[in-house]
Amino acid sequence: MVKACMIGLGRTGKIVAKNMIGRKDIQLVMAVCRPGSDKIGQDVGTLLGISETGIKVMGSNLLNEGLRIFKPDVAIDFTNPEACITNATVLARNKINAVIATTGFTDIQFQKLRSIAVQNKVGMVIAPNITLGVNVLQFLCKIAAQLLDDYDVEIIEEHFKDKKDIPSGTAIKIAESISEGRGIEDSVKILTENDAISLRGANIIPIHSLRAGGIVGVHKVMFASDEDSVEIMHQSFTRSAFAKGAIKAAKFIVGRKGVYDMADVLNLEEALERFANKQRDSHA
Ligand SMILES: NC(=O)c1ccc[n+]([C@@H]2O[C@H](COP(=O)([O-])OP(=O)(O)OC[C@H]3O[C@@H](n4cnc5c(N)ncnc54)[C@H](OP(=O)(O)O)[C@@H]3O)[C@@H](O)[C@H]2O)c1
Repeated sequence: MVKACMIGLGRTGKIVAKNMIGRKDIQLVMAVCRPGSDKIGQDVGTLLGISETGIKVMGSNLLNEGLRIFKPDVAIDFTNPEACITNATVLARNKINAVIATTGFTDIQFQKLRSIAVQNKVGMVIAPNITLGVNVLQFLCKIAAQLLDDYDVEIIEEHFKDKKDIPSGTAIKIAESISEGRGIEDSVKILTENDAISLRGANIIPIHSLRAGGIVGVHKVMFASDEDSVEIMHQSFTRSAFAKGAIKAAKFIVGRKGVYDMADVLNLEEALERFANKQRDSHA
């Protein structure tokens, strides 16, 4: 049984915590919120609208002390970039592996996060896109980018109105996969609609971001030529999809060292190799 600490009890963190209750493979042992939050001291079950669990919510200012008492094997962070880096430092110093699902890091913050894991010799999954479906979309886009190498590519992402990071971390990851598929470096650019039109064709992958209502998450990638187009799309219906991925990543990172992503957790490269081998065998 993996013992888990949930950090960040907002829109998504609460759903992830709820999905951990009553499971045989993972057990929630700590629930951590923002220092000064009115969630501090509440039973996490009450906060989640279920029966009491005996786990009291604590502020992240007491993370160090909490880790020593409750000894989780892994922590999952759904907070914000600044809070996450502070929390990740405390976790790493306590040799606790982590799943970083928080998004919106600057390049410098991202490098800092990696070095926290490497220098402290702990395991970390950095997962700006934690669902199985969106990782498969990213993988398919990498292949499509190779096969349709002279097609224009446009990424359209849609999220709820209060989502802070624009574009989404997932959209940036998709753009990176497409660049990788085409063997292009440094091609990811965040553009306005007008820039996207004027710069089209110059190794630019435009990302269009929409923020409206309660949309959980949509990523569409369009490959278009003068003759036809192909669209690959992923849509999250419920935040439980994030919980599924986060729990899988938490179980994966226990006992490992180093920095991983969701493609490692989901073993996507191996799946592609198996597919390619099957194809080869069928022609033999
Ligand atoms: N990887 C993925 O696939 C994926 C999926 C969904 C979301 N996310 C990311 O996860 C993050 C959270 O998303 P969300 O939608 O749940 O946002 P949210 O509702 O704003 O939740 C963030 C939570 O973090 C809490 N917090 C702030 N500072 C903290 C600290 N120092 N220690 C502990 N908790 C702290 C906030 O508390 P207060 O409300 O009290 O300030 C809030 O409850 C975002 O970066 C989002 O982009 C990633």
